[in-house]
Amino acid sequence: MNVLITGVQGLLGHEVAHVCAGAGDTVTGTDVRLPSIPLNITDPVAIRAALVSLRPDWLVNCAAYTNVDGCETDREAAWELNARAPGHLARACEELGVKLLHISTDYVFNGTREAPYTETDEADPVSVYGKTKYAGEVAVREGIEHYLIVRTQWLFGPHGKNFVSTILNLAKDRDRISVVNDQWGSPTYSKDLARAIRLLMERGASGIYHVCNRGHATWYDLAKKAIELVDLPTEVVPIPTTEYPLPAPRPARSILSTKRFVEATGKLMPAWQISLGHYIKEYLFEYRKTGLV
Ligand SMILES: NC(=O)c1ccc[n+]([C@@H]2O[C@H](COP(=O)([O-])OP(=O)(O)OC[C@H]3O[C@@H](n4cnc5c(N)ncnc54)[C@H](OP(=O)(O)O)[C@@H]3O)[C@@H](O)[C@H]2O)c1
Repeated sequence: MNVLITGVQGLLGHEVAHVCAGAGDTVTGTDVRLPSIPLNITDPVAIRAALVSLRPDWLVNCAAYTNVDGCETDREAAWELNARAPGHLARACEELGVKLLHISTDYVFNGTREAPYTETDEADPVSVYGKTKYAGEVAVREGIEHYLIVRTQWLFGPHGKNFVSTILNLAKDRDRISVVNDQWGSPTYSKDLARAIRLLMERGASGIYHVCNRGHATWYDLAKKAIELVDLPTEVVPIPTTEYPLPAPRPARSILSTKRFVEATGKLMPAWQISLGHYIKEYLFEYRKTGLV
């Protein structure tokens, strides 16, 4: 397959490029600040020119405004990048016969549901980030017939700041840290997600799929497990969200059901604890050396 990836310098984009290249695909990775192949996805003319010159089979859009709290104040930029840009991508892909895979989020849900969310459950985002991401999904659905939207959540992995790396970097200098214990989700390893994305592309899947690691946790559970795996003595103290107020409201319980993914691919996603172990094992050496993962 000939694959064009936008946002290739991000946490997920980097892994998608790696997995696709490993599978023998012709991969072109672009990003807004990538000097060799810059592509700003808010620029419809540049998108069209890239598609005409590269003629990919798939465009995988990993670019987004991902600073959830930043979206609350930088609203126009968030709408431009998360809501309108996916529409530009969809229309250009439709015109030039390119399949589009777009990444979305559990934050399209309000998080009040006890059971895991399925792909057909109604979206009701509570933050600007969630609203813009949902508007991006709608723009994709309206702009192109063959689309694949993958909703995921709570990503960790190399090549980008994430909750696990933040916690480990804090924990090495502190005796105790307080972490929110009343928000639930499924921590997801960027490498597992990238493999799942490549599999869906290979199967020619279309529509919306939820993809995340198996099992669920609170941020407290995730922090505690990561600190245990690194073998630090730091105490992790569970606190309610009310004790750690942030600008953007978060869904309290936005666990995603991956049943549709499992039925389409015959593959179970790995349990988050196992994948967290792989991430930490793989990057622990780097962590011990520099204190950064
Ligand atoms: N991280 C999570 O926990 C999480 C959870 C659920 C869903 N998602 C979704 O997963 C996708 C990938 O997220 P991620 O965590 O990999 O994000 P990320 O690490 O922030 O990467 C996003 C990339 O997009 C680039 N970018 C920014 N503006 C751009 C533009 N105008 N044109 C082209 N590229 C641009 C960024 O460059 P700069 O850094 O230079 O701005 C960055 O390299 C996103 O759709 C996100 O909404 C993420």
